[in-house]
Amino acid sequence: MAESVELLTADDTLSFGRTLSVHLRPGDLVLLAGPLGAGKTVLAKGIAEGLGVRGRVSSPTFIIARQHRPGPRGVPMLHVDAYRLGGNLDELDDLDLDSALVESVVVVEWGEETAARLSADHLLIRLTRNPDDSRQAVVEPHGAWATRAWA
Ligand SMILES: Nc1ncnc2c1ncn2[C@@H]1O[C@H](COP(=O)(O)OP(=O)(O)OP(=O)(O)O)[C@@H](O)[C@H]1O
Ligand SMILES: [Mg+2]
Repeated sequence: MAESVELLTADDTLSFGRTLSVHLRPGDLVLLAGPLGAGKTVLAKGIAEGLGVRGRVSSPTFIIARQHRPGPRGVPMLHVDAYRLGGNLDELDDLDLDSALVESVVVVEWGEETAARLSADHLLIRLTRNPDDSRQAVVEPHGAWATRAWA
């Protein structure tokens, strides 16, 4: 069942990511959907912080995916900005996400179109912007996530 979380500030978005990270393990796919500026990268940063992975999470300009080495928790994270692929999801195949999906937590921005392509088991988070500039996160567990805790 989808659940909605209100995020009043960017710090709330960060700490929501840290909360989500507690439940994540290698092989998990998290899809962050939502329009430009919705807060997807900030959420990915929060997840990375919570996992304690190395390297800064940014909006990649020339790369579409960045592998973050594991920190103390021993869990690496692959951050993919699929928005930059436009409609050409074939490029996703070049990233060899299948093997990344064994050893890393994979976080993909612009998730909805990419979901079916990658794995039926995923946690979809739809971010939207409220008129007062706060954000709403709607969490939709898919596949195996239906019986897993995410917060
Ligand atoms: N809950 C929030 N309330 C207010 N502002 C927020 C919130 N969460 C994030 N922001 C702000 O929204 C802006 C855009 O965030 P971010 O870059 O993460 O969006 P994005 O969805 O990744 O955008 P893009 O589609 O360009 O990749 C940032 O300035 C960030 O600080
Ligand atoms: Mg972004």
